[in-house]
Amino acid sequence: MASPCRLILALDVETKEEALALARPLAGNLAWVKLGLQLFTRHGPGIVDEFHALGFKVFLDLKFHDIPNTVSSAIKSLKGRPCSLLTIHTAGGPEMIARATEAARDTLPNCQVLGVTVLTSMDQTQLSAIGVQSSTEEQVRLLARMGTQAGLNGLVCSPLELSILRSELGAGPTLVTPGIRYPSAAADDQSRIMTPAQAAAAGANFIVVGRPILKAADPFAETLKIRREIGEAL
Ligand code: C5P
Repeated sequence: MASPCRLILALDVETKEEALALARPLAGNLAWVKLGLQLFTRHGPGIVDEFHALGFKVFLDLKFHDIPNTVSSAIKSLKGRPCSLLTIHTAGGPEMIARATEAARDTLPNCQVLGVTVLTSMDQTQLSAIGVQSSTEEQVRLLARMGTQAGLNGLVCSPLELSILRSELGAGPTLVTPGIRYPSAAADDQSRIMTPAQAAAAGANFIVVGRPILKAADPFAETLKIRREIGEAL
C-alpha cells in the first residue's frame, strides 16, 4: 500500500502578520506549513518557533546551495529550531549533500533533508544556458540518484516526475511536490501540474499548495477539501 500523502500549505506572503492571519484559523485542521526565503529573510529564524508554537510542523524551504562547509555551518546554525523538513540544492554535489545531511543528523535529529533537483522554472533552454545538454528528465534522474546515494532523505520534484522517481528509487525517499492545481482553476505560473488526488496516487508523500488555498474564497474549506481528496487524517 502507498504511504499516506499529507498537505503542506506554502505561506508565500510578505509578512509574518499575514502568514499568521492565514494559518491561525487552520490550526488543528492542517498539520504542515512551508516557510520560505521571503518570510525567513524578513523575520529571521524565530519565525520557525512561532509557527511551531501554534501547533504546525514546519517545512523550512531555504534551498541552500554553497560550498560544503558553508551549507553544513548554516544547518548547524539552525540547531534547536523545530523544523521537520529542510531543502538544499542537489546541484551542490555529493560532498555538499553528505556534509549537509551529517550536520542535520547532529543538530536537527527530527528533520529530513530534501534535495531540489531541477527547479520547475528551468526549461531546456535555461538548462542549456548553464551548460547542461541532457534532457530535463535525464538531469532530474541523475541528480535524484546521486542525491539519495549521498544521504538525502527525500526530493522535491514536479508532479510529472513522481512516478519515474518512485519506480526508480523505491519507497524509501520522501517525495514532495508543488505544482498542484485543479483543471478548472488558474495554473498561475505553474505549467507541470496535477490534481491533489493524482499526485497522491503517483506516489507523493507531501503536496505543497500555495495560491489555490491562499487565494480561495474560503481557505478553510479548501484545506479540508484537499485533505479529504488525498485521504489525509490528522
Ligand atoms: O502557489 P503554488 O501552489 O504554486 O505554490 C507552490 C509552492 O511550491 C511555492 O512555495 C513555490 O515556491 C514552491 N516550489 C515550486 N517549485 C519548485 C520548488 C518549490 O513551485 N520546484
